Amino acid sequence: MDLPSLLLCILLELLAVNCFDMAAERIVGGYAPVPHSIKYIVSIQTTDNQHICGGSLINKYWVITAAHCNIGVDNMMIVAGDYSLSIYEGTEQQILPQLLVPHPGHNILDNNNDIMLVKLMAPVYLNSYVSIALLPRQDASIAEGRMCRVSGWGYTSPSGGQIPSTLRTVKIPVISTEKCNSTESFSGTITENMLCAGYSTGGKDACKGDSGGPLVCEGRLYGVVSWGRGCAEAMFPGVYTAVSKYRRWIDDTISSSYGRCDNN
Ligand code: ARG
Repeated sequence: MDLPSLLLCILLELLAVNCFDMAAERIVGGYAPVPHSIKYIVSIQTTDNQHICGGSLINKYWVITAAHCNIGVDNMMIVAGDYSLSIYEGTEQQILPQLLVPHPGHNILDNNNDIMLVKLMAPVYLNSYVSIALLPRQDASIAEGRMCRVSGWGYTSPSGGQIPSTLRTVKIPVISTEKCNSTESFSGTITENMLCAGYSTGGKDACKGDSGGPLVCEGRLYGVVSWGRGCAEAMFPGVYTAVSKYRRWIDDTISSSYGRCDNN
């Protein structure tokens, strides 16, 4: 909060308006992490530096993101080591993609298999600003109520009102697929390849522009931001691609002809 808003808040608090909470509680309910503490996240941009989606580094050559972030290999640029998208910090590594591998079963109608692997033209340097995310084992499940962290440069309110240029993050619990598929919620549209996370009361969620980004639970990349209904609405948690369902596909893709010799 800057000084003018702080003074305004103190004034409003005297009138019993809970201004500090309002300021802290944006609709997606997130906060700014310590800069460069979330080292596995990348910003997926157009070649003219427009942020499109998030992604996660899974090794020096490969990024995992959502299939619906596929803007074409010639239009894409990956930025690792970023925090503020608008300020040059000297920690950024901009790398072009060499190959996009959207999941062959991606269905844009029901969002099933919304996952894509991106091979980089050159390896990222792993340093104190850039590291990799660990993957869950094939079919590993994460129990309801377990806490996860979702991060990204997406909208901080459903209307997009405030688009942050600095990274934001929020902690949310896993919601069971049964609950997520109930009639008050997503009524049967959640497949076994998806994972729901959020609060039934809403308030904390990913939003537009966070797609493709990481949902990390217990130190592993369990989810990729995929879809939702609005953002942070009660009974409509965020829907994530369940990465553990794709562990084999990921390993096979990375170790196939796509670059066996140079993927570590
Ligand atoms: N599809 C959105 C994007 O392209 C992300 C949606 C996530 N929505 C949510 N409420 N969790 O950025």
